[in-house]
Amino acid sequence: MFTLKTIGVLTSGGDSPGMNAALRAVVRTASSENYEVIAFRHGFKGLISGDFKRLGPTDVSNIIQRGGTMLKSARCEEFRTEEGRAKAADVLKKEGIEALVIIGGDGSFQGGTLLAREHNIIVIGIPATIDNDLVGSDETIGYDTALNTAMDAIDKIRDTADAHDRLFLVEVMGRDAGFIALDTGIAGGAELILLPESLTDVNEVRTNLNGILHEQRRSSLVVVAEGDETGGALKLSEKLRDDFSKYEMRVCILGHVQRGGAPTARDRVLASRLGSAAVKAISEGHTQVMVGIVNNAIKITPLKMTFGKKKEINFELLDLAKKLR
Ligand code: F6P
Repeated sequence: MFTLKTIGVLTSGGDSPGMNAALRAVVRTASSENYEVIAFRHGFKGLISGDFKRLGPTDVSNIIQRGGTMLKSARCEEFRTEEGRAKAADVLKKEGIEALVIIGGDGSFQGGTLLAREHNIIVIGIPATIDNDLVGSDETIGYDTALNTAMDAIDKIRDTADAHDRLFLVEVMGRDAGFIALDTGIAGGAELILLPESLTDVNEVRTNLNGILHEQRRSSLVVVAEGDETGGALKLSEKLRDDFSKYEMRVCILGHVQRGGAPTARDRVLASRLGSAAVKAISEGHTQVMVGIVNNAIKITPLKMTFGKKKEINFELLDLAKKLR
């Protein structure tokens, strides 16, 4: 007989728009299934120090539309150690929490997997990162909002680039993944898109840019993923500056603006579905799994597979971008 009564929940790692919507769905679904919810502040840090509060359905009112996370988030070095995870397990056991829902990305899921293995805790992951780099979900919570924020910025940059006939290198987030760069590059009509998943040859970039500028385009825009092997937009600009001195080259790094803001409708719906699915997964007896969306249906994937291999980008989209430039 399954006697679980209390679920723990936290948000961890880099925040993403829609984390609040996911929390709301966890709390309200749990409540409808008669579970109590204990929420930890500041991710695994709060789990280790016992910084928590009980949340009921009305405590998560008016948050579905908010960016950031009402629970706060953190990256926690101590949780990487066995001692840190043992302290966290003690807190969970003391509060009678047998299942923990982690709303976060790959680093958080790695930590969660170790906690589950070492201390026999039920752990369920909800994928929330703007990077969209988790295997087991077509999209992660926050990705769509970040895309739209970046695209909006790129459109604005295009206006000023065009007014001055300038060459812009725009850097978007993605330390290890090029999903944001690829989609915003296509959506923003970028002349070139540089990703960590495809090898960037600076000489080829020079040749391509020369060709594009020769066609007397008025402005040119290169979208560079933060994790591209060139080292990002600033480093690339140093390599290109001498060759393109007659064009006024400018660099724009979009940075953390991509992580903020109200979640899009798509992210709110995704977060609501996944938050609810996480509680259902607990009721059904799952552990060490991530709930994701594949082909518009909920899919459960072993947690270790979500970060164990790299999620592949769609190279057809990169080819499409080349054709359309
Ligand atoms: O949220 C993921 C991510 O945006 C990466 O693309 C980026 O490199 C990283 O977070 C930066 O996060 P922070 O400044 O919090 O370390």
